[in-house]
Amino acid sequence: MKFKYFGHSAFLIDELLIDPFLTGNPNCSTLPGEVKCNIVCITHDHSDHQGDAFEIAGNNDATIVAIHEIAQAAASQGLESIGMNIGGWVSVGEWRIKMVEALHSSGMGHPCGFLLKKQGTGKTIYYAGDTGLFGDMKLIGDEGIDIAMLPIGDRYTMGIRDAVKAVDLIKPGLAVPMHYGTFPAVAVDPEEFKRQCPVEVEIFQLGEEKDL
Ligand code: NI
Ligand code: MN
Repeated sequence: MKFKYFGHSAFLIDELLIDPFLTGNPNCSTLPGEVKCNIVCITHDHSDHQGDAFEIAGNNDATIVAIHEIAQAAASQGLESIGMNIGGWVSVGEWRIKMVEALHSSGMGHPCGFLLKKQGTGKTIYYAGDTGLFGDMKLIGDEGIDIAMLPIGDRYTMGIRDAVKAVDLIKPGLAVPMHYGTFPAVAVDPEEFKRQCPVEVEIFQLGEEKDL
């Protein structure tokens, strides 16, 4: 699968976009109008996650996948949306998407992470969203995670030490750090995470695309 990084926690995985915070990200020069996708997943309504999600979904006639309350808000603006809640799976196009717990806060509904499986790839991705460390990450790991995308920026989410503990619980094949470097409050060094992490780590440069 092709992963493209827009900075902070914003990734495009093939045609699935997640937490697209572009406008207002001081490091990101991609405009919402430049992004092509079919699915937009939103983990929670903080502006550094919901970001440009509604605009980009509208531009692309893409389907928003989010917790019930955010999906309702999207639908009320005429956007295509699928509401769900923690523990459930939905199918959208070639993707199977499970909503999982995140230990965080939000204005609308409840914050979440996602398990993402694309047909024919045999891969399971755990996108943690914004979260602190929690023991039930072990249960998420029991699903067999190939790629774990984890926040490491500290202050608002796990820092490096807890993100390494998360990897110990999840036991993914590969870890991808996110939610760092955007603002002084989350200025941590992803290379330090890589040094401490017991599994392979892929660090994305801004705007970088990798086949994983
Ligand atoms: Ni947040
Ligand atoms: Mn955040």
